Amino acid sequence: MSEVRVRTEDLTKVFYDDGRGEVHAVNAVNITCESGEILGLLGANGAGKTTTLRMLATVLAPTGGNAWVHGHEVREAAEQVRASLGFYSASTALYPKITPRETLRFFARVNNYPKARLEQRVEYLIDRFGMESFADSRVEKLSSGMKQKVSIARTVAHDPPVLIFDEPTVALDVLNAIELRDIIAKLRDDGKAIIFSTHIMSEAEQLCDRIAIIHHGRILATDTLDGLRESTGHHYLEDIFVHYANSSGRDDSIGSVSDEVVG
Ligand SMILES: Nc1ncnc2c1ncn2[C@@H]1O[C@H](COP(=O)(O)OP(=O)(O)OP(=O)(O)O)[C@@H](O)[C@H]1O
Ligand SMILES: [Mg+2]
Repeated sequence: MSEVRVRTEDLTKVFYDDGRGEVHAVNAVNITCESGEILGLLGANGAGKTTTLRMLATVLAPTGGNAWVHGHEVREAAEQVRASLGFYSASTALYPKITPRETLRFFARVNNYPKARLEQRVEYLIDRFGMESFADSRVEKLSSGMKQKVSIARTVAHDPPVLIFDEPTVALDVLNAIELRDIIAKLRDDGKAIIFSTHIMSEAEQLCDRIAIIHHGRILATDTLDGLRESTGHHYLEDIFVHYANSSGRDDSIGSVSDEVVG
């Protein structure tokens, strides 16, 4: 049975920027993600994707609203939230002087993965992420695509129930992006609750069980691709996205289109 693993309630982030004044980066966002589900956060540059995901990962404190990860509230129980999730973003760092194998061992250990099963876990990750050929080369000698795989593998090393990926395929070539999407789909089939952000329409179409369209910090719609098609009369996600983006300026109430099951 699937369970709600991530839930936000009017999650909000206002930044104060010298040049722009108040920036409403994330504006009353309500999303959920269940175990065995991939929720895509689809939005243009500056839509608020990274800010939303950083609040879920406790990297940033919300200025309003709430968010729960695996039942833990992000401000009240940041440590438990961090133990329950793996967070990948472009700033996920690796140590250049050690190998992918050593990297996975290290991150599984510091995140309290059971010692007795640690080597088995590392082998499994190397196999699942297709890293056999470079598992024992130093990270500094790897290509950027290889490093990105290691970075993502290290965020899931401790086998957390919730995975949050901020544009995980952004620097990958087509074949590696397909391979990574395949890995993410398998993690979903293992029962993980996965939220990932993208601005690539085809990626959202292929991978997501539900898609949340975020625009200027607001969620304009959340539904399956078929549900979005039905609501808008458009077939392609690009047309669906443009439909919502164009309507949002005129009618803010469209934010309530979101059809969430909150548990
Ligand atoms: N530390 C900050 N101070 C001020 N404004 C910020 C800060 N971080 C983000 N913002 C602003 O918040 C808004 C949302 O940014 P965010 O990085 O969440 O967007 P995004 O959807 O991830 O975009 P991209 O696709 O370009 O990664 C933008 O207007 C951005 O400039
Ligand atoms: Mg971003």
